[in-house]
Amino acid sequence: MKIAVLMGGQSGEHDVSLISGSSIAKALEKQGHTSINVTISLEGIWQLDDGKEVTILPKPSKGLWLVNENKELPIDVVFPVLHGPKGEDGTVQGLLELAGLPYVGSGVLGSAAGMDKGVMKALFRDAGIPVPKTILLESMDTEVVETEIGYPCFIKPANLGSSVGINKAKNLGELEKALQIAFQYDTRIVVEEAVNDAREVECSVLGPEPKASLPGEIVPDAEFYTYESKYHSNNSRLIIPAELSKEQIKLIQELAIKAFKAVGAEGLSRIDFFVKKDTGEILLNEINTMPGFTQISMYPKLWEASGISYGVLVDKLVSLALEKHQKRSQLKISR
Ligand SMILES: Nc1ncnc2c1ncn2[C@@H]1O[C@H](COP(=O)(O)OP(=O)(O)O)[C@@H](O)[C@H]1O
Ligand SMILES: [Mg+2]
Repeated sequence: MKIAVLMGGQSGEHDVSLISGSSIAKALEKQGHTSINVTISLEGIWQLDDGKEVTILPKPSKGLWLVNENKELPIDVVFPVLHGPKGEDGTVQGLLELAGLPYVGSGVLGSAAGMDKGVMKALFRDAGIPVPKTILLESMDTEVVETEIGYPCFIKPANLGSSVGINKAKNLGELEKALQIAFQYDTRIVVEEAVNDAREVECSVLGPEPKASLPGEIVPDAEFYTYESKYHSNNSRLIIPAELSKEQIKLIQELAIKAFKAVGAEGLSRIDFFVKKDTGEILLNEINTMPGFTQISMYPKLWEASGISYGVLVDKLVSLALEKHQKRSQLKISR
């Protein structure tokens, strides 16, 4: 198959996406497909490896549109390996819907709901999944934080990833500073009770009848899992599989599948949890509908530990995309 792999993108996670995208492209080639790499610059320009500019037109299409040649480059499926805003949040998925092209992963709804930390938490609560106490702010309202949440708390832009703009506050001064920072990144801010003394455990889910992998643990080398400790430190460790009791593993897997369904995710997602060290209590932190996908990333590593190799995994995701497209194209659109 001819598979367009979209990577880079207009987000803080541009560089990570390039690494994820090239490993996926290589794996697809190894599986016998042709990968057409599309790099999206920080400015939002889409280019092939030979420098030719392409785009996707918002009308029924058979492939990518070569901008300067005014013609179509046919493809069978799109693999959007984009993290963060303008890629993982339903925007690119919307464009692919208009083009009528099959694509890997969640659709518009699952992507958008899984990106917004306020919306995802509300959906999780609604599904009966335990989450830390959270409120959504659209203005600098420190009073409501102090009465509803208290300290220490986490302040997060609703629609970002990679810990960008996230801070922990232990008092009013730190809260004000953290809110100012967060409001530079988004108009919607989530403030959350800090889960103290917790391990961070993650679980991979693969659709369409969602299956959960063995969980893995992340041990950050900082007070919390910051941007620095995610990408610029060699001291953050992954423990795969995580050392947990059978009952805890089972519960995490069940909650992961519930979370996947709660936001309407499709194809793949990584679900991140806190496990309290003292009580063993499990709380859901977030869902990532296009998780990091380098050879050493948690998502594929967890499947490897559960018996699915990287190559088989990307191949499976492509087949799922085609199946979903096939199914959806049979739906009636009028009476
Ligand atoms: N409520 C919380 N209690 C304790 N630590 C938290 C909490 N929320 C976030 N963190 C820490 O901050 C990190 C990043 O927050 P997260 O919500 O996962 O955002 P991102 O989407 O940027 O990964 C987490 O991995 C964790 O280390
Ligand atoms: Mg996270």
